[in-house]
Amino acid sequence: MKKIVALFSIMFLGLVLAACQTTQGTIVIGANIYTYGDNFMNGVVRPELVRYAAQKGVTLNIVDSENDQAKLNDQVDNFISQGVDVLAINLVDPAAAGTIINKAKAAGIPLILFNKEATVAGVMNTYDKVWYVGTDSAEAGVIQGQMMLADWQANPSWDKNGDGKVQYVLLKGESGHPDAEARTRESVKAFTDAGIVMERLGLQDSNTWNTAEAQNTMQSWITSFGNQIELVISNNDGMAFGAVTAMKSASKVYPIYGVDALAQALQMIGVDELNGTVLNDGVNQARATIDLAINAAQGKPVTEGTSWVLRTDGTKAVRVAYVAVTKQNYQSFQ
Ligand code: BGC
Ligand code: CA
Repeated sequence: MKKIVALFSIMFLGLVLAACQTTQGTIVIGANIYTYGDNFMNGVVRPELVRYAAQKGVTLNIVDSENDQAKLNDQVDNFISQGVDVLAINLVDPAAAGTIINKAKAAGIPLILFNKEATVAGVMNTYDKVWYVGTDSAEAGVIQGQMMLADWQANPSWDKNGDGKVQYVLLKGESGHPDAEARTRESVKAFTDAGIVMERLGLQDSNTWNTAEAQNTMQSWITSFGNQIELVISNNDGMAFGAVTAMKSASKVYPIYGVDALAQALQMIGVDELNGTVLNDGVNQARATIDLAINAAQGKPVTEGTSWVLRTDGTKAVRVAYVAVTKQNYQSFQ
């Protein structure tokens, strides 16, 4: 009898252990941020990745890729040799998605890409265990454009030279980044669709989303164009902060709009230093990234048990919605 009880105990223990191996407590996620120097990625997305992973009881190993794709490649190799269960990767170079996908595929580890969407056509279909979490890049530009157009039409005095056209400067951000490209296109299109001619005085295409660089660029635009500038379009808040600093030190005020809705941007809307922004919901992007990673690590359908919706258009993407933020509603985002 004792023997039988002992035998059953051992069998039961074995079952419990087997069950444990697939529970969340044992999952290790290898993750990165393309650079801790990015206001949005480091200030909004990283803290929520850390917080939400802890809430879910999974281990998150997260590293800084210092804006260096070669460094990220090495970090991914390290994660793979450490035996992580799943990778959550913020590409440095969106065109390098294939390199990371191939590494994950060779190791048989599922991969969640987030924030920087792969730009090489078809690359997402080279591996059945890769997905993307981000936004619909064009949406931010559409919303920002509509917001600027409405304000332009409501404020005839903004057309300083009275020619009916908008003389503008645009801080683009990282060239080749789907968000930078789509925002640049769509924000201006809102005006041209309404029959308003857009005249671009300056375009910053410096390959970064950096605040200090944007400040320098804005400074030189002020020197070159002064009162000709009627509108400043910034593809993110971080660059808008730099532009506002330059405007203040030159005692200039131009209508200026950003994207992201960082805490500082909301404050600036409150004191009329920024005219508007677009919420880039990094908190929900971080949560979706962790949720998909946990499911993928367990071999479950990635959105199972969550409210995230996977696009069925071949992009294998979860896209979190953008929201317009103006003087009318900014307080509800603080
Ligand atoms: C954000 C930018 C950020 C970039 C990083 C974009 O979605 O709006 O602020 O610099 O992602 O990839
Ligand atoms: Ca004008």
